[in-house]
Amino acid sequence: MRVQYGNWRSHLPKGAHAVVTGASQGLGRAFAEELARGGVNLHLVALPDADLERVGQALQALYDVSGETHACDMTAEGAVEALCETILSRGHDLAMLINNAGVGYNSTFVDSTVRQNETCILLNNLATVKMTRLLLPALLEADQAHILNVASMAAMFPMPYMPVYAPSKSFVLSFSQSLRQELRGTSVGVSALCPNGIRTSADAREKIASHGKVGDLFCLDADEVAQAGLRGLVRDRAVIVPGALNRAIASVSRIAPRWLVYSVVGAFWGKTAKKPTRSLTAPAPSPVQ
Ligand SMILES: NC(=O)c1ccc[n+]([C@@H]2O[C@H](COP(=O)([O-])OP(=O)(O)OC[C@H]3O[C@@H](n4cnc5c(N)ncnc54)[C@H](OP(=O)(O)O)[C@@H]3O)[C@@H](O)[C@H]2O)c1
Repeated sequence: MRVQYGNWRSHLPKGAHAVVTGASQGLGRAFAEELARGGVNLHLVALPDADLERVGQALQALYDVSGETHACDMTAEGAVEALCETILSRGHDLAMLINNAGVGYNSTFVDSTVRQNETCILLNNLATVKMTRLLLPALLEADQAHILNVASMAAMFPMPYMPVYAPSKSFVLSFSQSLRQELRGTSVGVSALCPNGIRTSADAREKIASHGKVGDLFCLDADEVAQAGLRGLVRDRAVIVPGALNRAIASVSRIAPRWLVYSVVGAFWGKTAKKPTRSLTAPAPSPVQ
C-alpha cells in the first residue's frame, strides 16, 4: 500500500511494542517520543542513569503508553543477551526494533585509544547484530514488523578523522541491506537510516556550529530525523537519508572520484578533529585507556 506523506503516523503499530536503544537522549529519545505519540508501547534502553527513567515516566504520563526502561551497558559481556531475555520474558507483541545506540570519535587514529575503538565496534556493530538476532524470532511472529538500524552518511565513504566510526556505520548499512534481502517475503522489513549531522548532544552541536553556515545547512534536529526515519520505515524504504540536500550529497558521493571525497571530508572533519598533542614522529603514549 502506498503510504502518503501526511498519514505515516497512522501506520505505526499502535498498541504493539517497540524496542529503542540509546533512548535517554538525542535521536533515540526523539524516536521514543514519536512512537509514544503514535500509541506504540516502548522498551527503552540506555546506560544506567537517571535520564532514562525520566524519559520513560514522561512518555507514559504524556501519551498513555507503557514505557519500560532497561538500564544496560550494551558493550558489557553478556549484557545484550540478558537484556533481550528480559524483554522477551514480558511476552509482549514486538513489532519494531530500532538499533539507535551508537558512539564515535573525531580525531586522528593515532590519537585514539584502544578503548574508544573497542567501544565503537562493540556498540555500533556487535550490539546491533546481537539485538537483531535475539529479537528477530519474536518480530517474525508479528503480522507486520520492522527493524530500523541507525547508520549515518558516514557509512557511504571512508572518512579520515573518523577512521573507525565510518567503517562501523558501513557495516550497519551493509548488514541492514543483506538482512533485508534475506527477509523478503516475510513479515519483517529492514531499513537503514543514514543521517548527516543531527543537533543532539552538546558535543554534536559544537561540531555543527564550528562548520558555520555549511554545517547548519546540512544538519537537522533530532525530531526531524526521527520523523524521516519512521516515515521511511512505514514506507519500507531500504535506505533513508533525511533532507533533500543530504540525498544530493549521497548521490554525488557515489560517482565522485575518491580523491575529491577524501579531500572534502578531510578538510571538513580535520577542522574539528582532536588535535595531536605531539608530533607524529614523537614516541606514542600508551594507546590502552
Ligand atoms: N548526532 C549526529 O550528528 C549523528 C549523525 C549521524 C548518525 N548518528 C547516529 O545516531 C545515533 C544516535 O546518535 P545521538 O547523537 O542521538 O547520540 P547521543 O545523543 O550521544 O545518545 C546516545 C545514546 O546511546 C546511549 N548509549 C551510549 N553508550 C551506550 C552503551 N554502551 N549501552 C547502552 N546505551 C548506550 C546513551 O545513553 P546515556 O544517555 O545513558 O549515555 C544515549 O541514550 C547513533 O547511532 C549515531 O552514530 C548521529
